[in-house]
Amino acid sequence: MKAITTDSYGDPDVLALADQPDPKVAPDSVLIRVKAAGVNPVDWKILAGYLDPIMHVHFPLIPGWDVAGVVEAVGMDATEYRVGDEVMGYVRKDEVQHGTFAELVAAPVRTLARKPAALDWRQAAGVPLAGLTAYQALKRIGVGGGDTVLVHAAAGGVGAFAVQIAVAWGARVIGTAGEHNHDFLRSLGAEPVTYGEGLADRVRALAPDGVDAAADFVGGEAVDVSQQVLKDPKRVASVVDNEVVGKGGHLVWVRPDSADLTALADLADAGKLTVNIDTALPLAQAAEAFRRSQSGRARGKIVLDLS
Ligand SMILES: NC(=O)c1ccc[n+]([C@@H]2O[C@H](COP(=O)([O-])OP(=O)(O)OC[C@H]3O[C@@H](n4cnc5c(N)ncnc54)[C@H](OP(=O)(O)O)[C@@H]3O)[C@@H](O)[C@H]2O)c1
Repeated sequence: MKAITTDSYGDPDVLALADQPDPKVAPDSVLIRVKAAGVNPVDWKILAGYLDPIMHVHFPLIPGWDVAGVVEAVGMDATEYRVGDEVMGYVRKDEVQHGTFAELVAAPVRTLARKPAALDWRQAAGVPLAGLTAYQALKRIGVGGGDTVLVHAAAGGVGAFAVQIAVAWGARVIGTAGEHNHDFLRSLGAEPVTYGEGLADRVRALAPDGVDAAADFVGGEAVDVSQQVLKDPKRVASVVDNEVVGKGGHLVWVRPDSADLTALADLADAGKLTVNIDTALPLAQAAEAFRRSQSGRARGKIVLDLS
């Protein structure tokens, strides 16, 4: 099969399209013919070596954790799926090597859910990692009906999911973004505010009694600003700022979870969750997709299209 590979850590220039052996299919896994693969900031962070202290990364490395595609073969005891099923998954395994930026990927069934009919391949490939991150972060801080929620980086891959999920759960959402993204946030159901100096005042202008919960998908001042406007400073989750724990909040590191991913698929099929594709590129242009992710300016998701 063709796959994006690298023999070393580095910047996106080290990525190359190469022939690799087809993956072996473990008993609890299925083989997926990849239709599209979502690109996330963690992909270039792994490539840069940033996760080396906490994860075993093996070379040659095929990057990528997000996938949408068609089941081509099933493992000996992967009874949940049949050949021909359309699936999506956040295929993070315990060690990092055989990723999704390839024509074929072997995925443990615990990482998968059925692809929602309402989304096309590109959109489905953008859901798993970012959608699960948003879902699990909002769950952690107990977001529900009647809450006012502050979402930092609301126009990004994770943030756009968080806005839609919180709205679907009956919350009012205030989302931070640059002004060029304010109409986009409104289209998702959020009230936009511009980030940067004075953010806490701008949030207070919209929510004079304070917000009930806050989710940080960007870091920097987001946790501190959140705690200035939260009624309960413990109801903040961050996926980027480790210091949130010492400040009484929650650090979230997204986990593969079939039930959570199915819940996201159900929201999509109910018309409550969609995916804006910022950039779609062929597999061979993975390096360009990584550079777009590194820009920090994506509106929604970046994907590799193999269909
Ligand atoms: N711990 C975990 O499990 C986990 C999981 C997923 C992601 N993450 C991390 O979470 C971060 C976000 O991921 P992502 O996929 O959403 O990234 P992304 O799609 O690249 O985010 C891009 C968005 O960030 C916005 N942005 C940039 N600076 C901002 C600021 N200071 N305030 C508000 N918005 C800002 C941009 O909006 P504007 O153009 O309007 O500025 C853009 O829409 C990354 O660092 C990623 O590694 C962690």
